[in-house]
Amino acid sequence: MRTAVIGTGHVGLVTAGGLARWGHTVIGMDDDASKIAKLEAGGLPFFEPGLNDLVNEGVEAGRLTFTTDLEVALKDCDVAFVCVGTPGLPGGGPNLAYVERVGVEAARLATGDLVLVEKSTVPANTGVRLAQVIAREQARHGKTHNIQVASNPEFLKEGTAVQDTLFPDRVVIGSAVPEAGETLRAVYEPMLKEHGCPVVMADLQTAELIKHASNAFLATKISFINQVALICDEVGADVTTVAQGMGLDERIGQQFLRAGIGYGGSCFPKDVNAFIHLAQSIGEDFHILEAVRDVNVRMREVVIERLRQELWHLEGKTVTLLGAAFKPGTDDLREAPAMHLAKTLMAAGVKVRIFDPVAIDHVKNQLPDVECFTDVHASLRDADAAVVCTEWDEVKALTPADFAEGLGYPIVVDGRNVFDPEAMRAAGLRYTSIGRPKPKD
Ligand code: UGA
Repeated sequence: MRTAVIGTGHVGLVTAGGLARWGHTVIGMDDDASKIAKLEAGGLPFFEPGLNDLVNEGVEAGRLTFTTDLEVALKDCDVAFVCVGTPGLPGGGPNLAYVERVGVEAARLATGDLVLVEKSTVPANTGVRLAQVIAREQARHGKTHNIQVASNPEFLKEGTAVQDTLFPDRVVIGSAVPEAGETLRAVYEPMLKEHGCPVVMADLQTAELIKHASNAFLATKISFINQVALICDEVGADVTTVAQGMGLDERIGQQFLRAGIGYGGSCFPKDVNAFIHLAQSIGEDFHILEAVRDVNVRMREVVIERLRQELWHLEGKTVTLLGAAFKPGTDDLREAPAMHLAKTLMAAGVKVRIFDPVAIDHVKNQLPDVECFTDVHASLRDADAAVVCTEWDEVKALTPADFAEGLGYPIVVDGRNVFDPEAMRAAGLRYTSIGRPKPKD
């Protein structure tokens, strides 16, 4: 099939690579000429393991090309995936202006029948609104092509995006008319034939809701275990074992029960806000999700409290944040707990150092006053405390002696529960983590 991917961010580019792998012709389109230039030169606009190879494979096979021109992308196109950004607005809802614009333009530029697929995370009813916009614009321009809107939410995780796309655990397809759903299913057929995975066929709103509810539920699991961790801290229990014991119940499962400084990234914080906003807009208060968001903020405060407890005054102290990216395997700093911590600490007069193996250039751009390191040992030297923010391999490879010998004061706050408390304390460190027994004074 002839496909287009509009927006070459994380979701778009991985989708484009997958479509080419499955034998489709793909044009990746983006307004950002510098991104397209980078892609045409064989590079990537961001870091994602395995993606460069997947994209280059499509390009070399002659199936994947790039353009900044939507007209070129939509010419003779059967299925176009809308992967544009839906950034959060101050009121909590997402900005759907880019999505709407694609609808407006597609109505004018489509040269034949087209299935326009929402892949960006969008609130319920976006598909219905998009179909209305398209019908209105078609009437304005006297166009009569059959353009159908479908929803095909993306469940990939940054850092494992290629694997998640090539071997998904489910494909969700929503459409108002069965033909559009079947066309979209046919796009996935080569992958389904090879690996097979459940396909959920639904209407538009249901598909949109599946995505919202999935991300909200995963964020809820994290905040739930984090709240449990704070109780563990007080009663002297160990949250890692609590999570293990809970997770052995198949109905609960082991995943997403890692306590720590909370979730970040471009998805959970924005999607939780958007779901709360959606509920409010129809007169429902989604109290559970409001609590999920509050606990996530609270986790960062806990780290600051721990530092104050150990350092007394923060002003003038040097604190090393180990890891900046919101999780390992990505250079994405969006809503990263470390970046929030860095700003709070700097406002309190702390000299902040940050180590990160891949995101450090972005840190330099965003926080020019931070001292940046790609050498984890150098980042510790003579600092007054270290905070583990991202469980990078380089961080996990540090030994208790590395901390004890490197740091000026032997203070470590482990925001990802990476290290063994006993071993750290045996090396003479003042070590605290999240929800695991604290040292006795
Ligand atoms: C998330 C979802 O996991 C994907 O299924 C979804 O497709 C994606 O959002 C999206 O909507 O596009 P992602 O944001 O890439 O994926 O990252 P996750 O691996 O889910 O991690 C999110 C955050 O939660 C990270 O900061 C991570 O450190 C934190 N986390 C995760 C925990 O604190 N504890 C855990 O147990 C798991």
